[in-house]
Amino acid sequence: MKVARFSKVGFILAAAGSAVGLGNIWKFPYMTGENGGGAFVLIYLLTITFIGVSLFLAEVLIGQISRKDAVSAFETLSPIKNNIWKYAGYMVFTGVLVLSFYTVVVGWIFKYIYISIFSLPTDIKLAGDAFNGMVGNEIGIQLFTFTIAFALIIWIVSKGVIKGIEKVNLVLMPALIFILVLLFFYAISLDGFGQAVSFLFVPDWSKVTSNSILAAVGQAFFTLSLGVGTIITYAVSLPKDTNLVKSSIIVAAMDTAIALFAGLIIFTFIFHFNAAPTQGAGLVFISLPPLFSQMGIMGNVIGFLFFVALAFAGITSAVSMIEPSILYLTNRHKMSRKKALSILGTAIYILGTLALLSNTKEFSEVLKFSGKGFFNILDFLSSSILMPLAGIMIAIFVGYFIQKERIYATLSPYLNDRVFNLWYFTIKYIIPIAVSAVMINKIFF
Ligand code: PHE
Repeated sequence: MKVARFSKVGFILAAAGSAVGLGNIWKFPYMTGENGGGAFVLIYLLTITFIGVSLFLAEVLIGQISRKDAVSAFETLSPIKNNIWKYAGYMVFTGVLVLSFYTVVVGWIFKYIYISIFSLPTDIKLAGDAFNGMVGNEIGIQLFTFTIAFALIIWIVSKGVIKGIEKVNLVLMPALIFILVLLFFYAISLDGFGQAVSFLFVPDWSKVTSNSILAAVGQAFFTLSLGVGTIITYAVSLPKDTNLVKSSIIVAAMDTAIALFAGLIIFTFIFHFNAAPTQGAGLVFISLPPLFSQMGIMGNVIGFLFFVALAFAGITSAVSMIEPSILYLTNRHKMSRKKALSILGTAIYILGTLALLSNTKEFSEVLKFSGKGFFNILDFLSSSILMPLAGIMIAIFVGYFIQKERIYATLSPYLNDRVFNLWYFTIKYIIPIAVSAVMINKIFF
């Protein structure tokens, strides 16, 4: 299989572009708010450190040594003939599920780019009404912004990975970080900051349930783009002499830092305005606009830049969700990129529309299954079930089915033996046991 290679920093940029997205700035804060703060954050951080980074490296390894799409990678690397391991590669389709509801949120952000110029709500109550009004009632506008987001994402993907992603990332990631730092310094000066720090970093164990543990683990998978073949797929294009270990750690560290920054900023404003942290999926859209509004015309500018940068962070992640299934369809089924994209795009558009409608008053009843709206079902199914399951499979595959010598030969230039053994132990035992325990715990308790 012929694939274009990333440039040396290209892989880190693309992987960071995938990892850093709405998961950090939209999802992490609101999940933290809904699951009681500190304890959720601690479990999330522990999962990233002890499970996430190791799995990230395992995915890089699979992509790097197979240099194939995820399905073919599992098939060719497995020592068993006629094996069933290729089915693990179907994790690529989880990306399609994620992209469906993710595109809806990118659509919301587009609306907020407009709002930040023309109609910033002046207080948090109005901001809440505006967000909930949009999601619950404004079907036409949401469909419009969703369609634009969808078209833009498909257009970027149709241009191919390397060219499309690298260029966009190069400008917008630093822009986003810059705005976050700016907002962070502003946040430090407010009273709510201290409260935000203790909310995020002082665990209240009474808030921990089997649900919140699974949510924290799921969020760690989601934010690092694990368990959907994204990292496997991007690693196919790695230049030969990239330091795999260093790249994985840099991406995970950067991703975590951005989520924590976003959390601190958003909760500072939430507490500053005396609002509840449990605003659900609207948290970022409810907490920041009133603040921008207080800053006068500067607020319009910063708000505008913030939502533009956030949209692009979302888009670079979105692109990376669909790339694994595209590579699978073009590589294995010899489809043209165009055909693969139209099939996947159709599925995404239909599922996304249903997700969008499931939040509206008019359709929420018909699109509800066992008490959960379709939007939330897509999110829960992918982050809390399919990604962790795929994570377990990746760990078992790397730990028990790929020859250890082969793995060692690939990783040893970048790790000393002690760290290698620690990583291998984590992959073989810790990840399968810990992640299964969390999932089983959720079923029974
Ligand atoms: N990691 C991305 C984010 O935090 C989401 C993502 C999930 C991207 C799965 C690719 C694959 O927004």
